[in-house]
Amino acid sequence: MSASKSRWADEDPETEAIIAARKREKEEKKRAKAEKQRQLEASKAQTDGDGNDQSRNGDSGPPMKRRRLSNDADTNDAEVPENAEKKKQTTLLRFPVREWGTCRHVDNFERLNHIEEGSYGWVSRAKDINTGEVVALKKLKIENSPDGFPVTGLREIQTLLEARHANVVYLREVVMGNKMDDVYLVMDFLEHDLKALLDEMREPFLPSEIKTVLLQVVGGLEFLHAQWIMHRDLKTSNLLMNNRGEIKIADFGMARYYGDPPPKLTQLVVTLWYRAPELLLGAEKYGPEIDMWSIGCIFGELLTKEPLLQGKNEVDQVSKIFDLTGPPNSQIWPGFRSLPNAKSLRLPSNSSASSSSDPPLLPRSRFPYLTNAGLGLISELLALNPASRPTARQCLAHPYFREDPRPKPKEIFPTFPSKAGMEKRRRHHTPEAPKHGQEAPELDFAGVFGGAPGGDTGEVGAGFSLRLG
Ligand SMILES: Nc1ncnc2c1ncn2[C@@H]1O[C@H](COP(=O)(O)OP(=O)(O)OP(=O)(O)O)[C@@H](O)[C@H]1O
Ligand SMILES: [Mg+2]
Repeated sequence: MSASKSRWADEDPETEAIIAARKREKEEKKRAKAEKQRQLEASKAQTDGDGNDQSRNGDSGPPMKRRRLSNDADTNDAEVPENAEKKKQTTLLRFPVREWGTCRHVDNFERLNHIEEGSYGWVSRAKDINTGEVVALKKLKIENSPDGFPVTGLREIQTLLEARHANVVYLREVVMGNKMDDVYLVMDFLEHDLKALLDEMREPFLPSEIKTVLLQVVGGLEFLHAQWIMHRDLKTSNLLMNNRGEIKIADFGMARYYGDPPPKLTQLVVTLWYRAPELLLGAEKYGPEIDMWSIGCIFGELLTKEPLLQGKNEVDQVSKIFDLTGPPNSQIWPGFRSLPNAKSLRLPSNSSASSSSDPPLLPRSRFPYLTNAGLGLISELLALNPASRPTARQCLAHPYFREDPRPKPKEIFPTFPSKAGMEKRRRHHTPEAPKHGQEAPELDFAGVFGGAPGGDTGEVGAGFSLRLG
């Protein structure tokens, strides 16, 4: 038997003939394809050279005018067809296209009990009639959208579909009611949200439990930021926990993609108590650092069971922040003065004195049971200067998580009776997420350090006094 021949072919000459015929067929097809491609390229090159191909005015083919993607003014693509072709190949981006099928009807689910009504939707516990599985059903509200189009809902669907991660709530499917605007998200059901849980707990989480919770939240956030997704509404009621100690980030109604450099965005994002100072001071360009500020607020809340910075309005929120961190100065936060709302801020005379550009440690008295490493981490997360905050990845690598007590394994995390499993979750008052499409109000911070409009109480802060309203 010759070495080049197939053992099977040698045994069966008929099969050998079939294989040979197929091979010929394949080669012929390949040749035809290559020829077609060559012809296509030749005609394209000619078209680009002329810059005037009538066929492009029809339905098929790319539009005649293309956005110039290069700043290289010296290259004239129209005169060099090969260049034009090369450039087209390198600049065209292909995105994976999801296959869309028809949505199932919400009648496939039996509503078990109502869980919560938020700003953008009603959430219930429900059972999939076909499989018996218990899920969470979130009906999207559309009244917040000016044009009757559930923008936040669509954002939520899009980002949730892209954000598949162990620490992000799993969107199973989208189902419809009878009307076009009856849209429901079907998600994995989780027994608790951290806000309701903290409200019910007698004692705060143990340090080892706080680490387990934070590592999961920041782990999910690291993934989101790596996908260029900002959550923009991180708070304890948007963090879900199941009875296996697993945490999932939920509520993507405010989430959006960002870029580098950051695009111009609305400042009216993030629920007031978790909102970063650059947003309050009116920054139009901001980045994932705003989510890290919220993580700092959540860290503080996990330690004490109480939201850390409970401002009554934007001005009061800024006062509460500076009360905790100390006032800003150009050493620790270069450029803060140029933020729109910072112009009205009258700072105390001693606020320009700062020996270092590092964010100062927060007062130990606010977190008496926290280790030095823990105090270091929360101080970095709550740095006024967004550039001084750690990224999600840096946060995960912080020594706080490696020192004793170590994070408690999820498997031995305590279980808690579920409120969502039985009845509507009892919601203690917290401010709502900003409404989509609202304009950020013009704010006057003149009173933050001095006694003009603003909050409604006088307070003594860290080394300076606040006289408000
Ligand atoms: N998958 C889920 N499993 C269990 N409970 C959930 C789930 N998703 C949401 N919930 C509950 O419903 C509440 C509201 O959900 P969500 O935050 O998604 O809606 P929202 O209308 O955007 O809320 P808000 O504007 O108040 O932040 C959550 O705080 C949580 O208590
Ligand atoms: Mg929410």
